[in-house]
Amino acid sequence: MKHLLSAADLSPAQAVHVLDTAAQMAATQAREIKKLPTLRGRTVVNLFFEDSTRTRISFETAAKRLSADVINFSAKGSSVSKGESLKDTALTLQAMGADAVVIRHQASGAPHTLAHAGWTSGAVVNAGDGMHQHPTQALLDAYTLRRHLVGDRGTTDTTGRDLAGLHVAIVGDVLHSRVARSNVQLLRTLGARVTLVAPPTLLPVGVHTWPATVSYDLDDALATRPDAVMMLRVQRERMSSAGGGFFPSPLEYTRGYGLDARRLAALPDHAVVLHPGPMNRGLEISADAADSPRAVIVEQVANGVAVRMAVLYLLLAGDGTRTTRTTDETK
Ligand code: CP
Repeated sequence: MKHLLSAADLSPAQAVHVLDTAAQMAATQAREIKKLPTLRGRTVVNLFFEDSTRTRISFETAAKRLSADVINFSAKGSSVSKGESLKDTALTLQAMGADAVVIRHQASGAPHTLAHAGWTSGAVVNAGDGMHQHPTQALLDAYTLRRHLVGDRGTTDTTGRDLAGLHVAIVGDVLHSRVARSNVQLLRTLGARVTLVAPPTLLPVGVHTWPATVSYDLDDALATRPDAVMMLRVQRERMSSAGGGFFPSPLEYTRGYGLDARRLAALPDHAVVLHPGPMNRGLEISADAADSPRAVIVEQVANGVAVRMAVLYLLLAGDGTRTTRTTDETK
């Protein structure tokens, strides 16, 4: 695997290999081996054109725990504000030596352009591009689901699909969500069944062609007893930049699609609640739901470090043949 641009890049075997490697990374951390020498002498550039807390810090932590040198670039305060292009920014960072570039960008497709335009010779990791993809978020979500609902060793399902048989409801602003797009793809790759729950105004055109069931009613969806509920952030900043308003109103949204104590009580006892963060408490999720024992939201953040260690390791030092999708698998 040369780059990680999309959850769709991963075959079932590759996805499971990343999750297994992440479990090994987590095990070393649990044994208080904080730093592995694996990427000593390699340089990881975090190239962030959009704000981030979790993704940027966890990629930095992951790279440092693998002993890589890390260069953090944030568009704010850089020459991007003087009009410098992605190409010239990438060429500048390449001149300083980059073995991997972790990029977050507001434009869908920017990581793909960076990977294929020859502006960097390093591996490119998509840390979120527009409304398109956020593959490491989907991987850390799958890792968290596997730990809670299946076990660290994955399923005994003969297809090797580690989340086979699980039912995950993804709820909220699907329209603007790269997390939803990546999760639908990866959850299906790993054998889970997905229900998307949203008001019609927050579903993308063509959603009925996605490999998921669509529901407009959260209470109906919860009555099907999903194993996990993944709440999505309402992305008000993308609504205003697209010229659209927030419809339904925030109050209507919370009534129809917010996860609160009443809806939490409707879930099966084993079910877990995920949210990629940052949360709009009181809008898509109430404080008591976010802080409940079945919420694994803080654990998702911790798992993000192990998953990103695994991704950097596999891209920069791993067995490329094991993780490269074969022609047969792409058919
Ligand atoms: N989940 C996620 O991408 O969070 P950040 O925007 O804080 O990185």
